[in-house]
Amino acid sequence: MITKKTINDIVETARIEDVVGDFVNLKKRGANMLGLCPFHNEKTPSFTVSPAKNIYKCFGCGKGGDPVNFIMEHESVSYPESLKYLAEKYGIEIEETQTSQAHKEEQQKLDSLYVLNQFARDYYHEQLLQTDIGKSVGLSYLKNRGFTDETIEKFGLGFAPKDKDAFTQAAKRKGYKGQQLKKLGLTSKYDSDFFRDRVMFTIHSVSGKVIGFGGRIMSKNVKAPKYVNTPETEVYNKSKVLYGAYFAKRAIRKSDECILVEGYTDVISLHQSGIENVVASSGTSLTVDQIRMVKRYTQNMKILYDGDGAGIKAALRGLDLVLEQDMNVKVVMLPEGEDPDSYLQSVGSEAFGEFIESQAKDFILFKSELLFSEAAGDPVKQASMIKDIVTSIAKIPDPLKRSLYIKECSHLLKVEEEILMNETNQIVTKSVHQAEDQRKKDQRQYARKKANEQDGNFPSDLGNFPSEPPPYLPEDADYGAQAPPPQPLQRRPAAANNAEYQEKDIIRLLITYGGQLFDPENEAVTVARFILSNIEDVLDDFDNDLYERVARECLDMTIDGTPITPQHFIQHEDKDFRHLAIDVLQPEFEMSPNWLDKHDLPLRSQPMPEANFNNDSISAIYWFKIRKLDKLIERNKASMKKAIDEKSGEEDVMKAMKIHQKLMEIRKDIALKLNTVIVR
Ligand code: GTP
Ligand code: MN
Repeated sequence: MITKKTINDIVETARIEDVVGDFVNLKKRGANMLGLCPFHNEKTPSFTVSPAKNIYKCFGCGKGGDPVNFIMEHESVSYPESLKYLAEKYGIEIEETQTSQAHKEEQQKLDSLYVLNQFARDYYHEQLLQTDIGKSVGLSYLKNRGFTDETIEKFGLGFAPKDKDAFTQAAKRKGYKGQQLKKLGLTSKYDSDFFRDRVMFTIHSVSGKVIGFGGRIMSKNVKAPKYVNTPETEVYNKSKVLYGAYFAKRAIRKSDECILVEGYTDVISLHQSGIENVVASSGTSLTVDQIRMVKRYTQNMKILYDGDGAGIKAALRGLDLVLEQDMNVKVVMLPEGEDPDSYLQSVGSEAFGEFIESQAKDFILFKSELLFSEAAGDPVKQASMIKDIVTSIAKIPDPLKRSLYIKECSHLLKVEEEILMNETNQIVTKSVHQAEDQRKKDQRQYARKKANEQDGNFPSDLGNFPSEPPPYLPEDADYGAQAPPPQPLQRRPAAANNAEYQEKDIIRLLITYGGQLFDPENEAVTVARFILSNIEDVLDDFDNDLYERVARECLDMTIDGTPITPQHFIQHEDKDFRHLAIDVLQPEFEMSPNWLDKHDLPLRSQPMPEANFNNDSISAIYWFKIRKLDKLIERNKASMKKAIDEKSGEEDVMKAMKIHQKLMEIRKDIALKLNTVIVR
């Protein structure tokens, strides 16, 4: 473990502008420096570096932190690895505390396995390029498939000879032990080579270590399996690995999209043609660990399916996992009989790119269309189709996204929105409760674990990132030309007031009625639980910090089962909480003057708010959502304007306009619902 002193040295020495400057072209802008964000695609720089505060922050994608964070994020490395990187850059010697003997031995054991795997990779690679049989059989096969020397080098392709134990003998001559070879699945228990007479694909970990292999048979019409792969070993955990991730990670982040294919050769082929943001699931269904790995780089996944039709429905079911992780999923069906590699080779990279771009369909809509066409005229099938689709929609954590899908699917499936909405809500409510119970359990477990650990390796908190106003960037700023000095961004006061009013209303309900039952029939659901389960995922969007903190405290209390009472807040140790509690508990709370103008809706007049807190809760949530929609609408308007200004093509403009229309529709809907809640 790296000592505290070394960590301090590193943190004090590393200059953010140097560290970032190695990767990003920075220009001085007043006290700050500005560049194009390496974490998302942008044309106008919003990536800001503050030498004075020694931090970076992107006002486009929100990423920010200190030099250590930057390297972790940019190089996709762990905390200690980032420290090591910086230590090397600044010539700081790393002191490590004595790790336990057992830990050291464990580490050495793993290291020796990686070394052996690397040896195997080099062996197979050499067999491919340096031996007659390798060249005539293996290399010619790979060349025939269109792989260049450069590709063969980069992906560490190789050749395993036919001989019974050529590799095992070579490894033993080098001093590697039979036991180790077996542990890595390189040698069978009868001491023969595991991979024989195959072209070899090296499997790398996300940080580039050799963890396993896939071997493909070269002849057709052989009874043996087409591929054999390294079995599960101490360094190869199938469910956590995606083939090609090491080579794809940068491109995935840059393009903000991950393309998922099935096979090794698909990854390599696409990569060679310049499409580098590709990984393969290696013929198995995706796991949560794999999805989480992708999610470190992007929220967007495009899945290319071989055009063989079979198994597509089963595959689609597996995708609910991806939705649960709040990823945006698109699917592309390749033409019949083609896989990505073969199709690319047959039409060329340009047509291939156009094809996947134009054919990509949103997963849920794709699934709906598919099931809809199958269920035509069969009421039983139709019912199960609706269940199936609604189950998928319910997996999406973002309520706003859910309502968008419900709207779309109601058109597609010709089912009333109301029905889809109700079905979805039932599933969501159920899973919210399950998730909370699970989280309670996890929390207890975590607390226990933490109590057992004395000195953690990780800092518990990366420090509060100062909320600096974004630098003023004129729309038409020419990056590189003389731009005006940074100015604080002007908030629009009216909108801010309004938003804050709605937030405050939610806080008022939480503090005043949070502990009461939302529905007298249902003991499990308090007002707080009801409100929070609806807005939990947008708590970050609170404009007012204090309100957000109160909401989060209520969330924690709900999870812990601590009763929420007005007294809790009136007697709170935090003075701001106390003031706020008193403020909202006063019967005469102020109405926002913009309330009526902005929403053009009748003001609710309720003589006895305490008799009506569940309706209030519902409307408070709707208002909050309207506000979030307004933000989205503004954001979309900006990109519409940008598309028009930059003449980036009618398609982009049309897309933005469509989104605008959709958002306005949802907004109108919610507004209408709000009206009925109020009137009722
Ligand atoms: P080529 O036929 O060489 O183009 O390979 P491919 O990647 O197109 O193969 P395919 O689409 O048939 O299979 C996709 C992936 O599933 C492969 O890359 C392998 O990871 C895996 N796979 C295919 N066949 C087998 C097999 O027989 N056994 C095992 N364990 N895995 C296989
Ligand atoms: Mn193929």
